Amino acid sequence: MCMRISRQRWFIANWKMHKTRLEVKEFMREFLPLLRRRPGREIIICPSFPLIECVSQELRQGGPKGKQATVGAQNAHWEFSGPYTGEVSLDQLEELGCQYVLLGHSERRQWCDESDSLINKKVVAALRNHMTPILCVGESSIERKTGKTMAILKQQLRSALAGIDSKQRQQILVAYEPIWAIGTGKIPNIQDIEDAHQTIRQTGQVDHVLYGGSVNPETIQNLANSRKINGFLAGSASLDASLFAQIVNI
Ligand code: PGA
Repeated sequence: MCMRISRQRWFIANWKMHKTRLEVKEFMREFLPLLRRRPGREIIICPSFPLIECVSQELRQGGPKGKQATVGAQNAHWEFSGPYTGEVSLDQLEELGCQYVLLGHSERRQWCDESDSLINKKVVAALRNHMTPILCVGESSIERKTGKTMAILKQQLRSALAGIDSKQRQQILVAYEPIWAIGTGKIPNIQDIEDAHQTIRQTGQVDHVLYGGSVNPETIQNLANSRKINGFLAGSASLDASLFAQIVNI
């Protein structure tokens, strides 16, 4: 089991609220030819909702290179359907070809007031729909400075994974994303990341733990060889086809 896990690696592009359809096509035209073969690698592109179909279509038309990547969503509602204006259901996302969904990103926790218990409903719903949740956890700069990193990670995991059995936990990807590292160019040292990953694995009883926060071809140079890091989640660097190709080809 452990061997299988350590060989598999996920590379996630979180495009946030960026790009138009034309820019998606331009990105794919440059990105796909740059992909090298890497057994056990999964590339997941998470665009905003209106671009999901366009990304799916570009990947389908991209031949064998296009098959190397798949599409994911940045959020979803936990109910199958209902009076939830502005929300998107997991069924609707599945119809568009999404197999993965980002949940609990710190920007949504901050700007949309998403609580751990709400995130839990979404994780449970994603598993119910046989989609892979990419659960984001991470501490703020104050929490880190006051020595609360591990306590915060434990609290976020316990709440977000409440009621989920150990078999289902193996299907979840957890992205450790320190909030202070997102979009700042700063990243923790490798020891701190590996310590956080260990806490996440033990507390969450999860196998697959990724790192996110200022991921680019330079910052991940010395993280790439760690067998404890099962992949990377990139924000701004993933918007650039050449940079994201360098990351996934590492
Ligand atoms: P960043 O964003 O790579 O631009 O730091 C990561 C994220 O927010 O997921």
